[in-house]
Amino acid sequence: MRIAVFCSGKGSNLQAIIEAVKRGEIKAELSLVVSDNKDAYALVRAREAGIESVVVEPKNFSTREDFEKKIIEHLEKKKIDLVCLAGFMRMLSPNFVRRYRNRILNIHPALLPSFKGTQGVKDALDYGVKITGPTVHFVDEKMDHGPIILQSAVEVKDEDTEETLAERIHREEHKIYPLAIKLFVEGKLKIVGRRVMILE
Ligand code: GAR
Repeated sequence: MRIAVFCSGKGSNLQAIIEAVKRGEIKAELSLVVSDNKDAYALVRAREAGIESVVVEPKNFSTREDFEKKIIEHLEKKKIDLVCLAGFMRMLSPNFVRRYRNRILNIHPALLPSFKGTQGVKDALDYGVKITGPTVHFVDEKMDHGPIILQSAVEVKDEDTEETLAERIHREEHKIYPLAIKLFVEGKLKIVGRRVMILE
């Protein structure tokens, strides 16, 4: 199985995936990193790990369709089976989702369906919840909406700032995202309606 990871920024989840592949926990090839931002630190991580990367920036395309067409070209060239969004701050079109139906995963820094969008940590903190944490889910046509694979609870402390809370959420992300990918690669995820069963 061949995996592509899509990133827009820091790439700490990419790093966790790289390490899980290296340790042999995820038995798949990490074949490609795709970034929509040429300055993403994730690209440095890819280079250091010897993984091929491509930058596809929307500003160079006149439509989203053309932008995604270019990405799909790269995915097809590399015969990618699974797309993992890891801090990719962009919604994929219904056309893209259809093409890779049930083969796109995403990590979100809040317990979905709460606090969707790009500020999941801040929104949870500002709302005043006592428990938050990351969610790994399949991607469907709606934002942060597809069937949930794994979640992890993180307690919000009185003294938390967005930074300290984000740090503890990240630590959990780095455990549950590689684990969800491992389960997918091993064929252990069964989608039943909105529920995802984990097979023994
Ligand atoms: C992660 O916390 C991820 O949950 C979040 O972006 C961060 C990327 O960090 N994604 C979203 O908010 C998507 N809605 P990273 O670049 O260090 O992996």
